[in-house]
Amino acid sequence: MSAPDSAKIQKFRERLHEEWTGDRTVAAWRKWHAQIAAFTRGATEAILEAAHLRTGMAVLDLASGVGDPALSIAAEVAPSGRVTATDLGPGMMSLAEELTRKRGITNIEFREASAESLPFPDESYDILTCRFGVMFFPDLRKALRECFRVLKPGGRAAFVAWGRKEQPFFTTTAGIVLKHVPVPPPPPDPDGPSMFMFGERDRLRRALEAAGFGNVHEEDRIVAGRWASSVEEYWEQFKEVAAPFRPLIEQLTPEKMAQAQAEIFAALKKFWNGKELDMPLEIVIGTGTRP
Ligand SMILES: C[S@@+](CC[C@H](N)C(=O)[O-])C[C@H]1O[C@@H](n2cnc3c(N)ncnc32)[C@H](O)[C@@H]1O
Repeated sequence: MSAPDSAKIQKFRERLHEEWTGDRTVAAWRKWHAQIAAFTRGATEAILEAAHLRTGMAVLDLASGVGDPALSIAAEVAPSGRVTATDLGPGMMSLAEELTRKRGITNIEFREASAESLPFPDESYDILTCRFGVMFFPDLRKALRECFRVLKPGGRAAFVAWGRKEQPFFTTTAGIVLKHVPVPPPPPDPDGPSMFMFGERDRLRRALEAAGFGNVHEEDRIVAGRWASSVEEYWEQFKEVAAPFRPLIEQLTPEKMAQAQAEIFAALKKFWNGKELDMPLEIVIGTGTRP
């Protein structure tokens, strides 16, 4: 894998800001946050376990979005531990702050921060966590070096990312849209960020080792993704929330959308157990420590 050039990285950054900090994305995550939290509970449990949290620890959660898993981490390290939750922009975190107040959580603070240049001194944290964020970092090498820098010696980093693209989360939704769009997008840049990049075995492990982490471990895991209401509602949510796929979905004419939706509902119904959608989610867990 070669290093992407700086013009390319700048383009990745612009796309990232557009996708994740815009009003539409923030409004969608606000609207669906409770259902998303339930759907991704298995991934929250995986990162809580991988992080080896203990009371009293200082934790930095990167790309915290609307607060999963930062709020759960705050409970794990309470009362003497603290969490710094971060995200690219204030929009997503504004909901996390509201939830924090509602739940009476007092050991969490929020900071706007890009993973590529963290506004924290060297060796500040015992643990660094990042769920479903690492695959979006425009300059992955720089971001992982930053993660390493802010950890104390002996500190641990735990990442959870999506696994392979060939999994129901993709094949029942965006994978079907892709077959109906007039102009399929070019494949993702092999050196750039993309949602399923860490589905390539050992890629996360190699990236962590290159950043200086020791005791690096990468694991593929299947966790249950449960959606308690209808498959139609799940798709409604996916269309609004999955920012990187929105340009693709918006290419569909009303006729093509109707065809794609019929296929999507049929594909999703295969995971309907009579009560809820129960979809296996393939995730990758990467951990490492700062020697
Ligand atoms: C799919 S959401 C995940 C949010 C949350 N961690 C979760 O698991 O639900 C991706 C988040 O990553 C954030 N993000 C992406 N790239 C980032 C970067 N370079 N620095 C900080 N945050 C970033 C986005 O703003 C967005 O909130």
